[in-house]
Amino acid sequence: MILVTGGAGFIGANFVLDWLGQSDEAVLNVDKLTYAGNLGTLQSLQGNSKHVFARVDICDRAALDALFAEHKPRAVLHFAAESHVDRSIHGPADFVQTNVVGTFTLLEAARQYWNGLPETEKAAFRFLHVSTDEVFGSLSATDPQFSETTPYAPNSPYSATKAGSDHLVRAYHHTYGLPTLTTNCSNNYGPYHFPEKLIPMMITCALAGKPLPVYGDGLNVRDWLYVGDHCAAIREVLARGKPGETYNVGGWNEKTNLDVVHTLCDLLDELSPRQSGSYSEQITFVKDRPGHDRRYAIDARKLERELGWKPAETFETGLRKTVQWYLDNQDWVQNVMTGEYRNWLVKQYAA
Ligand code: NAD
Ligand code: TYD
Repeated sequence: MILVTGGAGFIGANFVLDWLGQSDEAVLNVDKLTYAGNLGTLQSLQGNSKHVFARVDICDRAALDALFAEHKPRAVLHFAAESHVDRSIHGPADFVQTNVVGTFTLLEAARQYWNGLPETEKAAFRFLHVSTDEVFGSLSATDPQFSETTPYAPNSPYSATKAGSDHLVRAYHHTYGLPTLTTNCSNNYGPYHFPEKLIPMMITCALAGKPLPVYGDGLNVRDWLYVGDHCAAIREVLARGKPGETYNVGGWNEKTNLDVVHTLCDLLDELSPRQSGSYSEQITFVKDRPGHDRRYAIDARKLERELGWKPAETFETGLRKTVQWYLDNQDWVQNVMTGEYRNWLVKQYAA
């Protein structure tokens, strides 16, 4: 089986669902279930013996050791993290704990387990670390896209802790020979995305008749990657990536935030029109995020050249699917609107 951490979060859950949709190999899903973890996303797997869920914190070494010993995974896919930049600005401690200490603890547990494997299994073992393009910092409008050799320059507590985890993974390959793979991807979007992030936040606020809060001038640029394309890239890297290597994963979709929000409003105007007027009338400019990175852009040519992966979705097809999914799954959205999440909205957007 494979061991997936963070498999109740947005990308991890999409990965687990995609994996079990096309493979007979079982998944051990290790997740602490923070505010971002949602077992409701995995409801369709209830009763499926190929999905084993363990509510475990990746900082808990003893629990990890027991899971490795019992389930003997052939690979670890490490998605678990604190992942929201705005939360990292309000409270960085959890980010240091999970992203740095948690990744370190998982690496140590994996290393001990891997050391005890017979030679053929040892050679086949993989530790795939899922990271972000944010570790490379911010680009100007004319800078070339991030490549695998772009120097690290993280600017937020979130990206700094992800950078720390990337360095630990690199060191475990270099020092101990652990067969690691690292992927650095751009902004994902798609089904089951927690509505604190831009795209689900805008869809949710639009349908609720609330303001659509665009930070600053709305001209920050992100590269958008459909989550299903990201999952396919991870499967390729796991199967054929070279240990010790890093791979950038991007959608070739650079958009300003304002472009994204206007496209979302146009789609909602078509698929779920307001009684009168356009959703774009709800767009509101709010105070900018401190240290807000201006532009992220990914050069994903290495992954295409070496492993033959490229995204299947365009931004238009992926976003249409995503909006339709949110319209069809309002009960999922309502279920994640917990008290804790509402408190966050008040803290972040009150001003
Ligand atoms: P998410 O916040 O939606 O989910 C994170 C999951 O990790 C949750 O299920 C949570 O319960 C779990 N978790 C958190 N702390 C844990 C701990 N200490 N022990 C065990 N489980 C814990 O995140 P996501 O958007 O699915 O991101 C997954 C990974 O991809 C992260 O490593 C993130 O840095 C990376 N990434 C995300 C994006 C994006 O656009 N979402 C982009 C680039 C990289
Ligand atoms: P986000 O989804 O938080 O991802 P990240 O910061 O990791 O790129 O934000 C994407 C972009 O959208 C980012 O430039 C911040 C901006 N943004 C808003 O303008 N308003 C919002 O309410 C949110 C959550 C984000």
